[in-house]
Amino acid sequence: MREEGLLTGEPTPEEEDAFEAGLRPQALGEFVGQGELKERLSILVEAARGRGEPVDHVLFSGPPGLGKTTLAAILAHEMGAQLRATSGPALERAGDLAAILSNVEAGDVMFIDEIHRLPRAVEEILYTAMEDFQLDIVVGKGAGASSIRLDLPPFSLVGATTRVGRVSPPLRDRFGYVARIDFYRPEELDEIVRRSAGLITVEIEADGAAIIAERSRGTPRIANRLLRRVRDYADVRKDGVVDRRTAEQALQVFEVDEAGLDRVDRAILEAVVHKFAGGPVGLSTLAIAVSEEQQTVEDAYEPFLIQTGFLQRTPRGRVATALAYRHLGLEVPEIIMQGRLL
Ligand SMILES: Nc1ncnc2c1ncn2[C@@H]1O[C@H](COP(=O)(O)OP(=O)(O)O)[C@@H](O)[C@H]1O
Ligand SMILES: [Mg+2]
Repeated sequence: MREEGLLTGEPTPEEEDAFEAGLRPQALGEFVGQGELKERLSILVEAARGRGEPVDHVLFSGPPGLGKTTLAAILAHEMGAQLRATSGPALERAGDLAAILSNVEAGDVMFIDEIHRLPRAVEEILYTAMEDFQLDIVVGKGAGASSIRLDLPPFSLVGATTRVGRVSPPLRDRFGYVARIDFYRPEELDEIVRRSAGLITVEIEADGAAIIAERSRGTPRIANRLLRRVRDYADVRKDGVVDRRTAEQALQVFEVDEAGLDRVDRAILEAVVHKFAGGPVGLSTLAIAVSEEQQTVEDAYEPFLIQTGFLQRTPRGRVATALAYRHLGLEVPEIIMQGRLL
């Protein structure tokens, strides 16, 4: 059996219900970090509320676990609106979207997760729905088919995507605000860990929280997961208190290293270094080498490895950096030092 990376991957539904849901901030004021983004969203919300209109359509983009779904729910909450959630892959036919839209009530926030995976035919009926609050439905088939137009109440569309480059320009242009969510800073993650520890009542010391924050790959979802693993370890192997030593030992047991890389991250770096002589190697070849889906490597692993400077993307593929060699405890080859692979 292939082992999942501890850090990435979408949460299972049970995980989502039992753990993440309880930690999810409900209001903008509880959402930690991302100060500029919060300021812009609060302007959007206050202005819309002042005019008595729904908030403008918003698209959130960024790697998994940074708070896109959370922010969609927060927008609805701040607007005092109902949230109706669906996802790109769930909307297979135009009729699926029409069914949802025809039930939308004035002011509702409709959330479409993974909006880059919306089929083209479905996407096209979204255009007039977003722009004019009208829904064009085709009834009948072949020569007898006709189109009817339904008026929709004003609503807000919130989209989320891990791949903003895959959202077609006509769709992207119909959002009033496109927000890119970046990886969190360690001090922001520190605050998230301490907040979560309070909510799930874990006794944690400041330097224990700092260790978890540093190794969370800039990602709140991972911070919460690591906290849970460390809590397990503290409960069964220690006295339940998370101090620095306990956090370090727990993360060692679960193979999360000082840089926050998990076994899959390291497998990716090792593959580039050992199997492809430092690169460049194409993404699909690399994914096969580590037995992961190409999409998983591209969406969940690579952004952090690139952001932290372990991997570089070149037109001919991915290249390991000197930092990657050093992290793996290897001598940095001349060719890498001189940047000749780039
Ligand atoms: N800014 C934040 N402050 C506190 N917790 C957060 C924040 N962003 C995300 N989280 C937590 O991380 C988890 C993952 O967030 P989510 O919105 O599901 O990410 P995404 O939809 O981008 O994959 C949530 O359960 C939430 O508790
Ligand atoms: Mg999400």
